[in-house]
Amino acid sequence: MSLPKQVRLVEVGPRDGLQNEKQPISVADKVRLVDDLSAAGLSYVEVGSFVSPKWVPQMAGSAEVFAQIKQQPGVTYAALAPNLKGFEDALATGVKEVAVFAAASEAFSQKNINCSISESLQRFVPVLEAAKQQGIRVRGYVSCVLGCPYDGEVDPLQVAAVSRELYAMGCYEVSLGDTIGTGNAASTRRLIEAVGRELPREKIAGHFHDTYGQALANIYASLLEGINVFDSSVAGLGGCPYAKGASGNVASEDVVYLLNGLGIHSGIDLNALVAAGQRICEVLGKANGSRVAKALLSQSMA
Ligand code: HMG
Ligand code: MG
Repeated sequence: MSLPKQVRLVEVGPRDGLQNEKQPISVADKVRLVDDLSAAGLSYVEVGSFVSPKWVPQMAGSAEVFAQIKQQPGVTYAALAPNLKGFEDALATGVKEVAVFAAASEAFSQKNINCSISESLQRFVPVLEAAKQQGIRVRGYVSCVLGCPYDGEVDPLQVAAVSRELYAMGCYEVSLGDTIGTGNAASTRRLIEAVGRELPREKIAGHFHDTYGQALANIYASLLEGINVFDSSVAGLGGCPYAKGASGNVASEDVVYLLNGLGIHSGIDLNALVAAGQRICEVLGKANGSRVAKALLSQSMA
């Protein structure tokens, strides 16, 4: 299969990136990050989550962040909503798009959202119905698509079955989450073949955490399989609070560098993105997780 001409990046840094940080991060710093990202040309930013603050305290200020960001035309600002309460809280902030999240493994589903896979899917039905009535688009996630921190191996057919359910209930796109980053180019291709038998490939997105350093290889493998939407996190921030040791998503800067090299359009200004990532790393007092950012920043200091 030939490579796509254009790819859409879903920037998950403000949500997937920051949700795992233990230290308090001010609303102002979160707002600045989202605004920096839209200014860098990201057309889709996952801003926060409307989940239980007891489960993920860092996302508690998401409504304030939504209220204060400068929403740019043509940019989608989205939030996670695990149930109807989360959807209603999201709706009150004026969001136009939410994401529901399921898992391909039972143990992870219990740890992450406190219910079985089938209970979670039932819980999403009223969310999808309410969203349809309100004209809100819903994206679906499936976690642990290439391995589970509790159950180990995950059958691609199980991922395909959960993806099919999400798509059938009205999710316009299903993002396949390699939550613990254990996938590789071969297992990624097998996964896309399995899921691709259940839904059109243009409805599938890739969400690769980089714990084993395989995320870029998995993205390239996915591109070859006809996937053209990828989730990424500026400066490689993040991880999942319910997947110990899992590192952040693939760094957005590294994906943009790969896409630029392949001549694939993303609409993103790499230098502006590097500056946005470095700024939030300085706020957090942590090293930048993007190899490309580190290389470019060291050149500019030389
Ligand atoms: P639960 O305790 O089973 O919920 O949690 P419940 O319905 O029994 O309610 C218990 C309490 O939570 C009640 O409050 C509810 O009002 C409250 P109380 O009466 O005790 O004061 N509550 C809420 N509060 C705020 N917002 C809500 C909400 N719902 C109930 N939406 C629940 C179930 C799903 C809420 C909980 O497990 C939860 O919030 N989990 C979120 C976990 C999470 O955010 N994980 C990280 C995101 S997923 C991820 O990172 C993976 C991804 O990146 C893809 C990948 O990498 O694989 C997407
Ligand atoms: Mg994730």
